[in-house]
Amino acid sequence: MTVHFIGAGPGAPDLLTLRGRDIIASCPVCLYAGSLVPEAILAHCPPGARIVNTASLSLDEIIDEIRTAHDAGQDVARLHSGDLSVWSAMGEQMRRLKAEGIPVSVTPGVPSFSAAAAALGAELTLPGLAQSLVLTRTPGRASSMPEGETLTNFAATGATLAIHLSIQNIAAVVRDLAPAYGADCPVAVVFRASWPDERIIRGTLADIETRLDAGITRTALILVGPALQGEGFTESCLYAADYDRRYRPQTADSPWQNWTPEPQDV
Ligand SMILES: C[S@@+](CC[C@H](N)C(=O)[O-])C[C@H]1O[C@@H](n2cnc3c(N)ncnc32)[C@H](O)[C@@H]1O
Repeated sequence: MTVHFIGAGPGAPDLLTLRGRDIIASCPVCLYAGSLVPEAILAHCPPGARIVNTASLSLDEIIDEIRTAHDAGQDVARLHSGDLSVWSAMGEQMRRLKAEGIPVSVTPGVPSFSAAAAALGAELTLPGLAQSLVLTRTPGRASSMPEGETLTNFAATGATLAIHLSIQNIAAVVRDLAPAYGADCPVAVVFRASWPDERIIRGTLADIETRLDAGITRTALILVGPALQGEGFTESCLYAADYDRRYRPQTADSPWQNWTPEPQDV
């Protein structure tokens, strides 16, 4: 018996991996975080599966469900939104399961920042503008931030920021970022990326607050940084006509002339 943690993606049911789909189809028990996991994904569960929305359960109750399945020798599909590597609460469940000797597997999912970038049609690392992406959040009612992980500190890098769980703190976001990025720095808020009611609000640090309306209260990402302007960047060397590289040697004495591809490179 194994507990399969599966990233269920940002919302659109077809943004689930094939591996995730197949594991769900093989598990007689499915626990899903109902606040963000789309119910359409549950259609992949086998007939007669026990399907439990864990949105209202405590950690103890979730582990009880898993223990019951374990005792019955039944595999569990454990679904969380987006990818499991960020803000999924997988870590605390896994720690309990490991302590009980219950085997686990992890299948990645499409994270919400990718879905938001896709909705914007944006590359978040544009040469000359930003080469780093910071996935972060602001403090919430239930979570404080480790010292040092402040927006002001991240702003000092000039990187693209993908700020999660923070739309209710937009005023503080603007206040903390404007000194480093400048008031005219582009901002995009993507609400429910990939869901049917997805919305995109673009602006700058100067006006994004006034552009938001009362409907944007949760499940939104705030993307900030010069890369969001989508212009004013340099082209990458990789595809430059005169760039000497292993797949396209430029001169007779290029060190790549004698390079033989490994089988997986072909
Ligand atoms: C508990 S975290 C889950 C993050 C998730 N594990 C991921 O990979 O993106 C929830 C936050 O992620 C962001 N989020 C999740 N799904 C989203 C979506 N479809 N569109 C925009 N933001 C989303 C929002 O900032 C939301 O407050």
